[in-house]
Amino acid sequence: MDKMWAGRFEKALDKQADDFNSSIHFDSKMYRQDIRGSLEHALMLCSCGILNQTEYEKITEGLNSISEDLTSGKLTFDMDAEDIHMFVEAELTKRIGDYGKKLHTARSRNDQVALDLRLYMRDEVNKIVELLKELIYTVKEKAKENQDAIMPGYTHLQRAQPITFAHHLLAYCMMLLRDVTRLKDALARMNYSPLGSCALAGTTYPTDRDMVAQGLGFDGVCMNSIDGVSDRDYCIELESAFATIMMHLSRFSEEIILWSSWEFKFVELDDSYTTGSSIMPQKKNPDMAELVRGKTGRVYGDLMATLTMLKGIPLAYNKDMQEDKEAIFDATETVIKCLEVFIPMIKTMTPIKENMYKAAGKGFINATDLADYLTKKGMPFRSAYKIVGTIVAECIKKDITLDQMELDAYKSHSELFEEDLYSEISLESCVAKRISKGSTGYASVKEQIAYVEELLK
Ligand code: ARG
Repeated sequence: MDKMWAGRFEKALDKQADDFNSSIHFDSKMYRQDIRGSLEHALMLCSCGILNQTEYEKITEGLNSISEDLTSGKLTFDMDAEDIHMFVEAELTKRIGDYGKKLHTARSRNDQVALDLRLYMRDEVNKIVELLKELIYTVKEKAKENQDAIMPGYTHLQRAQPITFAHHLLAYCMMLLRDVTRLKDALARMNYSPLGSCALAGTTYPTDRDMVAQGLGFDGVCMNSIDGVSDRDYCIELESAFATIMMHLSRFSEEIILWSSWEFKFVELDDSYTTGSSIMPQKKNPDMAELVRGKTGRVYGDLMATLTMLKGIPLAYNKDMQEDKEAIFDATETVIKCLEVFIPMIKTMTPIKENMYKAAGKGFINATDLADYLTKKGMPFRSAYKIVGTIVAECIKKDITLDQMELDAYKSHSELFEEDLYSEISLESCVAKRISKGSTGYASVKEQIAYVEELLK
């Protein structure tokens, strides 16, 4: 096929170089956005008197028929085309003749690709926001059903203090809610139309950039044409938000993997979200959670690739920038696929409250509460802390828990100990006594659930 720019050249492009240069195999997924942008561009050219009515109608008809035929599968992408923009233009000219050659007036592929990617990412990010909300809802529902499930809270993966499973899950709701706001912030900043920046310097035609921007649902136009075609900072912002989402999903996955092991058995994953082993008949593996954890790295990689691609290129457009798409498409697809499997995995996961409770009974996780008991009776906290440390050491030697130690033994450490210490250090009261805002206390957890529900509205 003759290149659109063949006029200036005496020799054709080398076949291998041509393949290397081409982006149609990944940018064809933006065909809807490319055609939508072209339709708005043509409308503006007509309303500004740059195209006449017949030209406008022919172009619109042609573009709409291409869109329909691509969607129905009647038309397939020509993999010899350099990119999606060239493909659509060539197909248009095939269908409507010379009229098709008028569409690219007052436009360059540089602003066209900048536009297409913003439109495409806007659509995808909205999908991700919806998925995130669905996940937050699902996790919140699990929390709501498990407000009475006491489990050990950990620091350093050592049993620390009793918490409820609901409180633990709600921590993820808060993280994911921030992930939503991060995406929305980025969307607000990127929602400006680069179209009309043309190659880099703008155009001599009397165009109306604001009209195109409005028609495409942007909040305005990029105010500097060089910036409009040169930056991909919104890709970096989005990839960084995606990387953060993946980091959250990965931590959650890691916990699910631990919790579903026989060592913990705090949860049972549904058969439909686990796999067996080819050799060990007893195995039930949390592959989905492991894959989410594993795929986090590639999203980090996509962010790093884009940052690195942009750092050394002079203004304005450089071909390096074609690399923006594979990275952000991969990151986007990965986040979507992970969320799509993570949501039902959580929905079908069964918490095993007895095991959580049993684990909470070990590890002296009520030791802080025992120290608080003495402190509330007037002893300075540091002294109480030291006495309880000695008591814990004694219990470990005797292989008993704090609630199994006799009152007499307690009294030998401090006269302040009375019979009421046992109810004070029960797991239930350890949780119930946590009255500070945001704590694991029952009232606080209810407040957190209401907070999440309010934000999801
Ligand atoms: N396929 C190109 C890209 O993705 C489109 C822009 C090409 N512009 C150019 N001046 N070669 O970046």
